[in-house]
Amino acid sequence: MMFGQKKSKAWRNLECVYRRFKDTQMRDLFAADRMRGERYSLKLENMLLDYSKNRINDTVMQALFALAEERGVRDKIKAMFGGQKINQTENRAVLHVALRKQDNEPIYVDGHDVMPQIRNVLNKMRDFSEAVRLGTFTGYTGKKLTNIVNIGIGGSDLGPFMATEALRPYWAKDIKCYFISNIDGTACAEVLNKLDPETTLFIVASKTFTTIETLTNAHTCRHWLTDALGEHAVSKHFVALSTNKAEVEKFGINSDNMFEFWDFVGGRYSMWSAIGLIICIAVGYKNFERMLQGAYAMDKHFATADFAHNIPVILALLGIWYNNFYNIHRYAVIPYDQYLQYLPNYLQQLDMESNGKSITLDNEPVDYATGPVLFGGAGTDVQHSFFQLLHQGTGIVPVDFIIPAISHNEIGNHHPILISNILAQGEALMHGKTEKEASAELEKAGKSKSEIARLKKYKSFSGNRPSNTIIFKKIDPFALGQLIAMYEHKVFVQGVIWNIDSFDQFGVELGKQMALNILPEIEGTAFGVEHDSSTTGLINYIKKIRK
Ligand code: F6P
Repeated sequence: MMFGQKKSKAWRNLECVYRRFKDTQMRDLFAADRMRGERYSLKLENMLLDYSKNRINDTVMQALFALAEERGVRDKIKAMFGGQKINQTENRAVLHVALRKQDNEPIYVDGHDVMPQIRNVLNKMRDFSEAVRLGTFTGYTGKKLTNIVNIGIGGSDLGPFMATEALRPYWAKDIKCYFISNIDGTACAEVLNKLDPETTLFIVASKTFTTIETLTNAHTCRHWLTDALGEHAVSKHFVALSTNKAEVEKFGINSDNMFEFWDFVGGRYSMWSAIGLIICIAVGYKNFERMLQGAYAMDKHFATADFAHNIPVILALLGIWYNNFYNIHRYAVIPYDQYLQYLPNYLQQLDMESNGKSITLDNEPVDYATGPVLFGGAGTDVQHSFFQLLHQGTGIVPVDFIIPAISHNEIGNHHPILISNILAQGEALMHGKTEKEASAELEKAGKSKSEIARLKKYKSFSGNRPSNTIIFKKIDPFALGQLIAMYEHKVFVQGVIWNIDSFDQFGVELGKQMALNILPEIEGTAFGVEHDSSTTGLINYIKKIRK
């Protein structure tokens, strides 16, 4: 792929389309086409995507599809599913899709079929999670392990945490799950305070098994356990999820208690692998398998549907349209489902760690914007925090709204109220309210002419603000699998179009390195290390207070 996509034919065409289209109002497009909602909607299994409330028409979409063709999205999809080393900077295959593959076809990496090893680990996860749930694998003193603690960070935390919370209605009644990620001692202390060592299972989740937060937390938990039950208890209370057997053994967990995964599974794409063990224990292997099947359904759709009917491709192209042509470098994901409240946190790593890049695969600086800033939170809560800015702020924020048609908790009319809110938000953002409409409303409310003149601008909404609406029948394991795979593939397509490596994360390294330099200074074992005057001043200030 050639660097400098602004100069490519499809890109130049999109610039022309943009110039002609940019001031078009969505409310006019809806008024002109009664079928618009239906026309820009797609269904897959129990899921519906309505993307009609976007600044698009057929010409825009055709131009975007042409860009996807030109950028070789089709070949890159094949390359990923085929086990090619598309993580170019790290020379690795990218095979989270293999983890949820339900057919019997092999996938070769370096001439070796990776599927048997994946199935072996899945079988081991099934057997172990069932044994914990049934109480046949117990703690050292013979008690059932009912408190499961996942110790991990980033991809070794956010995925399992988000998914376990999303599937709370499926949890075994007597099992409780906890997550320790932050190095802040409070994270560890607050979880351990609640637990009894005899009934606690620690899952140390780390792809590399060298991450300072995870290892520090794991050592603290190990001390807490051995202080209470002795060294022999470790094998009954600690398991490891990792690609690094040597480091796992060094920590003191034997390989029988290790669930392996491989370097072709990126951290932020790993909840389908051994990293999902806590999900299996919480909801049972059958439900975990349903989640894999949901993801597989999305994988098949992504790999086979033409671009005009391809959900992840369409979402990706809409993101490109706003990011690179409207210069809108942000978007919000708002699940209207309490169980999905951690989805935005999870997606932040997926999207921003994958596409927050500025060097192309051809080793050149990009001359166009890449990954946007993603934020979000659960509706309706966030309607009462940042939605003011979404409706009347100077910057546009495209939104993904997500809701199940049926709640796990159909109490009174809560869910109809929730549904009416999500639909109203999308409609309001798109439609807006003109000054004329605002004036008419104020007049109807009995306001005087001078009051109307004073208030009408404040009470009007520019509208034309884009959103997608994604509706599931219910958030069950299958739906969750579909949803997460959809976002993974969306991020992938954008990475292909931007010609960047979505699968490395060198950007997190500099801060880690520098923290290792500062640590001995804070601990008082190194002095006079050279920093800028701000950092030196801050180190000295904190040391003085901690003395
Ligand atoms: O933050 C960087 C990162 O490497 C993430 O990509 C990863 O998910 C996280 O750290 C945790 O890494 P590990 O699983 O190796 O402990």
